[in-house]
Amino acid sequence: MSEFRLTQISDTHLARRLQKLTDNFHRVGEHIDATRPDLVINSGDISFDGPNSRSDLEFAKELHDRLAVPSRFLPRNPDIGYNPTAVCSATKPPATEKERQNYLSVIGEDRWRFDEAGWCFVGLNSLIMNTGIESEAEQFDWLVSELSKANGKPVALFLHKPLYLNTPEDPELEASAIRYVPQPRRKDLIEMFSAVDLRLVASGHVHQRRDFTFGRTRHVWAPSAGFVISDAMQEVIGLKEVGLVEYRFQPDSFEVRHVRAPGQTDVWLDELLGKAA
Ligand SMILES: [Fe+2]
Repeated sequence: MSEFRLTQISDTHLARRLQKLTDNFHRVGEHIDATRPDLVINSGDISFDGPNSRSDLEFAKELHDRLAVPSRFLPRNPDIGYNPTAVCSATKPPATEKERQNYLSVIGEDRWRFDEAGWCFVGLNSLIMNTGIESEAEQFDWLVSELSKANGKPVALFLHKPLYLNTPEDPELEASAIRYVPQPRRKDLIEMFSAVDLRLVASGHVHQRRDFTFGRTRHVWAPSAGFVISDAMQEVIGLKEVGLVEYRFQPDSFEVRHVRAPGQTDVWLDELLGKAA
């Protein structure tokens, strides 16, 4: 395949009881049906409350299975739990092996690598980083082995949390530590990926659309497909809107399109919390 078309969706937070988020997902599904990419990647926060509600995870999986093209997934906090950082412990229960196994049994693998159109694609579970659970070390060992097979190909990394705000040297601050891949694992990851031709880091989590380049690497923050968070609850960094991201990969190059599916509407978290309680 000389061109690989990929659609990234993120932060769908699906649950049967949250109709507006389900409606937004259906609009995304219709757009995917109309555009037929080769693959959909959901970069995490797939379900509204995975650790406490297996049925949220099952509902989310069912909806993705009905999409017109295959999907891959990455977990995040509402799917498996939270992770501690260097400056603060997890604000909510950290991810555990039990929660991870629950996720694996409903959704499937939580890390993956595949090659298409001359590119190497890697997806990582960023939520187990710093937890010290068994699968954290396993994932790092697995990553070393997978990156050794990149053979000079450009690499696209997908993970739920952005690596950093602007630069690898950004200090980890208590107020924003949970937003990014936590230290000290962030430093380890950056070092590991410095050995390959990392061209793209695609993430979700912040519910804000953003796109910037540092060195040779483009960082794309996918917006939530489901809802946005008010300025009173979250600082403005990028663009607060719901939507998705479309990529076209060709050997040695790629294009990015920031898109909103027809009919997708900006649902606000404040409004949602009232209804989810
Ligand atoms: Fe989210």
